[in-house]
Amino acid sequence: MKKFLVLSGIGLMCIAFRDTIHLFDDIQPVPIPASPQRSGNAEKGYQYLVTGDYLKSGIPYNYFKLAYGKANGEFIKRDGFNADISYEYTAVKASNGEIVVAPNCLQCHAQVFDDKLIIGLGNSTVDFTSGQKLNPQNVVRVENFLKKTDPKKYEAAEPFLRAAKAVGAQLHTQVRGVNAADRLAALLASHRDPETFRWNPQQMMDIPDNVIPSDVPAWWLLKKKHGMFYNGFGRGDFGKFLMASNLLTVNDTAESAEVDRHFNDVLAYLNSLEPPPYPRQIDQRLAEEGGIIYIHNCAKCHGKPVEYPNLLIPESMVGTDSLLYKSNYQNPQFVDWFNRSWFAQGDHPARLQPFNGYIAPPLDGIWITAPYFHNGSVPSLEGVLNSKARPRYWSRNFDNPAFDYDKVGWKYTVQEKPGGTTVYNTDLPGYGNYGHKFGDRLTERQRKALIEYLKTL
Ligand code: HEC
Ligand code: HEC
Repeated sequence: MKKFLVLSGIGLMCIAFRDTIHLFDDIQPVPIPASPQRSGNAEKGYQYLVTGDYLKSGIPYNYFKLAYGKANGEFIKRDGFNADISYEYTAVKASNGEIVVAPNCLQCHAQVFDDKLIIGLGNSTVDFTSGQKLNPQNVVRVENFLKKTDPKKYEAAEPFLRAAKAVGAQLHTQVRGVNAADRLAALLASHRDPETFRWNPQQMMDIPDNVIPSDVPAWWLLKKKHGMFYNGFGRGDFGKFLMASNLLTVNDTAESAEVDRHFNDVLAYLNSLEPPPYPRQIDQRLAEEGGIIYIHNCAKCHGKPVEYPNLLIPESMVGTDSLLYKSNYQNPQFVDWFNRSWFAQGDHPARLQPFNGYIAPPLDGIWITAPYFHNGSVPSLEGVLNSKARPRYWSRNFDNPAFDYDKVGWKYTVQEKPGGTTVYNTDLPGYGNYGHKFGDRLTERQRKALIEYLKTL
């Protein structure tokens, strides 16, 4: 049935292309050209992702076990020191031979859904509001204790602790569920020489104080994209971006070069991921109707099932919160740092190329990736397709997330007013839920059909 939908979609596409082209008369979307990528081995990439030493420093193993106890679920099978620690951490051997535990990519790029761990699904329950994990006071306590009691363990933990101390207090978001990774990257860069990656205790470039919140994009989209990140500004060799967490603890660029040699495999793994299928019954007749509406109203930007156009959509066309992309122009320090850095050199360089707007992402597996837009400001597809149905202040249950299969997204409660860190407040700078009104002109029935179609992607 899915095949049938795809085929009828392609047939209609030719007509739709003519119909919708007037949308783009004055201001044009900008296609992103492809960059050459390294090839690799997906299985090796997965192993490296969940056991590899892209961070070579962290909390000494026995202290980690004391503080965090046993693993919180048997989600992935790993051996040795990793056998009974939680999936979002990896035990690695530090340069001096000590075993330490470091956070891995799954901190932000995996989430439990219906008691299953979905690797590649952005973690939309992450909590950057209290900074508990990297609380600098705790870090100093651990540091002092280790220095006194176990100098070798201290040595192994030192690169991790110094970074945690320097950036931990500056990663606070206003609400739970949004991510501070962009600011983390900028902060780490500000402490490192771009060419040697040498750590400097003082910040060497001025970066703005505010944390711009973002959602975490699903990994299975990457294989279609020519530019990484919401801004599509990640160009050139993707492996260089994938390894960027290495900046947290790396000692020098020789170590980075060693880590980089694995990221062709990690890319191959990410490219092998498929979105999880919608788990409930889909009304095929309604979905087919929705497929036609999609072709007329959405496909020009988001692509057809078989062909993705890789378009950057200028701000006047998409109209969503602009703080994220504007910051690359108002504060070009990070982009400049990156383009002068080790990442931008060698035989497979990467570079950042900002744009005033966002990439129109592929919509594969869109049903499971709520909340929506680059800042996670809209809790359900219903709201994406009808700007009047978007709640201004809303909360959801983070401890027992409940899924709404009708509106498609997280069940939420509309709040009268903002309050605390559990109520998403769309009045805040960077947290706006406006723009992208492409579904507003549709009827209720058409939107319902369109949502049914989106479940099939
Ligand atoms: C602290 C949370 C965090 C960690 C840890 C993290 N990421 Fe991300 N990642 C993000 C966020 C947030 C974005 C989106 C940023 C943006 O586009 O502005 C992102 C974007 C990406 C993208 C781009 C996807 C796309 O479609 O453009 C890839 C791929 C990716 N990360 C891979 C990784 C890998 C591999 C690791 C581990 C080596 C990792 N990330 C570690 C938070 C994180
Ligand atoms: C003019 C181009 C354009 C058109 C037409 C368009 N979109 Fe989008 N869409 C975008 C852009 C750009 C974004 C990213 C906005 C952001 O994150 O701030 C987006 C985001 C989305 C998202 C959220 C993606 C996510 O991962 O959070 C969904 C869902 C979506 N669009 C569905 C649709 C549907 C359905 C239609 C047709 C009714 C449509 N769009 C029409 C450009 C477009």
